[in-house]
Amino acid sequence: MVSVLSSFISVLNAVGYWQHSNDQYNLLKHCGGMGPYVEGTGFGLSHELPANTTVDQVYVFSRHGERFPTVSVAEELRAVYNKLKAAQVEEYKGPLAFVRDWEFYIPNDDCLEMETNTSRFSGLLDMENFGRAVRRKYGYLYKDETELPFFSAGQQRVVDSATSFAKGFFGSESEFDRLAHIHVIPEKAKQGANTLTSGRSCKPYNKHSNYDSGLKEFETQYLSQEADRLNSLSPGFDLNAQDVQRLLAYCPFELNYRGHSEVCQALSFDSFVGHEYSRDLELYYTKALHPFSFILGSLYVNATLTLFEQGSDQLNQSLWFSFSHDTDLLYFMNALGILDHQATDLSLHHIDFARWFRTSELIPMGARIVLERIKDSTGQVYVRVLVNDAVIPIPKCTEGPGYSCPLAELRKIFDSRLDGDTFASKCHVKSRRPWHLSFYWDWNTK
Ligand SMILES: *[C@@H]1O[C@H](CO)[C@@H](O)[C@H](O)[C@H]1NC(C)=O
Ligand SMILES: *[C@@H]1O[C@H](CO)[C@@H](O)[C@H](O)[C@H]1NC(C)=O
Ligand SMILES: *[C@@H]1O[C@H](CO)[C@@H](O)[C@H](O)[C@H]1NC(C)=O
Repeated sequence: MVSVLSSFISVLNAVGYWQHSNDQYNLLKHCGGMGPYVEGTGFGLSHELPANTTVDQVYVFSRHGERFPTVSVAEELRAVYNKLKAAQVEEYKGPLAFVRDWEFYIPNDDCLEMETNTSRFSGLLDMENFGRAVRRKYGYLYKDETELPFFSAGQQRVVDSATSFAKGFFGSESEFDRLAHIHVIPEKAKQGANTLTSGRSCKPYNKHSNYDSGLKEFETQYLSQEADRLNSLSPGFDLNAQDVQRLLAYCPFELNYRGHSEVCQALSFDSFVGHEYSRDLELYYTKALHPFSFILGSLYVNATLTLFEQGSDQLNQSLWFSFSHDTDLLYFMNALGILDHQATDLSLHHIDFARWFRTSELIPMGARIVLERIKDSTGQVYVRVLVNDAVIPIPKCTEGPGYSCPLAELRKIFDSRLDGDTFASKCHVKSRRPWHLSFYWDWNTK
């Protein structure tokens, strides 16, 4: 695995010439955030930096790895499975012929909401490999034999992800036991601003939603077209739009566990294109661009900027690792300003094919935002952002090395967007609860 990953990194930086392009036919780019990790397409920017510049501090904000569905999604998957199995079918043929021997893929209910741990898309293995890759790339920033914290939101799958990442980072069970400090931040409102799940601490956010019901019209159209196609090629199942929607979720979740899925093969690629867009609409309007997204993400971005301003000399630590959920990554990207790459709102009536905002690009399972503090030979410091291994410049702030943004400039942009607001006041955090995020600074004093 190690050699596969390192040869891949060198490919990333090599100049090449090829006349084929098949990334667009990768199903993992159309799984709507429910499927296995896949690297971002990015803008073709090199990971290499100009001479005499170095990365001297790194901050990682990651989603947990590939997982089983939630309890409610699992019920839907079970319902469509039961319906297809119970259908009176004269002849099993066409794309759904596999149903004759089909078995439900979730072994038991204890797995629900947990990381997967089998197959090439195992969530735990994904996170372990991620930890290994970070150690290889940034290991020079780690002082041997020092304790290292790994901050995790409270849900079991997130804690398991952080743990697997830490095991990959240390590479040996004994170093992990001795030096890894898995610091769990409960997903509770009483955490106030001292949280990795800021939505839970923000009452007014939970009350508002600007989700447009116009989405419904769009949805039924591509789903019913796919139902018609399957009903004509595989008669007898009497599929409807809702069944197709459930199968479109069954596929990526089964991939997460088994590494392959007959359901993925049965559905048309066009239906996945529709599926991705409906997920993009949902996440764009309810999470990414929600009026509270900036303030929710501002907690994390302010903390990162503060760590980078203090620098590793003052902090005595250069690597910062945090693990949370997909929605928190979207708030983070909003507060960082990178969602501005999507310059216009997504259409509710037709697929906006030219969009930048794609769930599979931004928050697949195992999604990761990596911020690098870069120092040049004059001592100036800059910030570079990698989302799912692709360099994503901060819009309108690209004058640093490798199209990075000067740290002071990023702070200015961020402060002007914040405009004097605070998370505590916008989110009505009660006075007896924490008003600031402090765990990065006080984790080892407790
Ligand atoms: C890098 O630094 C060295 C030593 O300070 C200097 O001689 C060289 O010109 C620098 N290279 C660039 C590209 O700035
Ligand atoms: C793998 O996952 C299954 C289902 O959640 C669980 O029963 C099993 O204990 C897990 N194994 C490991 C090594 O984590
Ligand atoms: C940013 O974080 C630092 C460190 O926690 C804190 O002192 C400061 O008040 C925060 N600023 C804002 C605007 O929240």
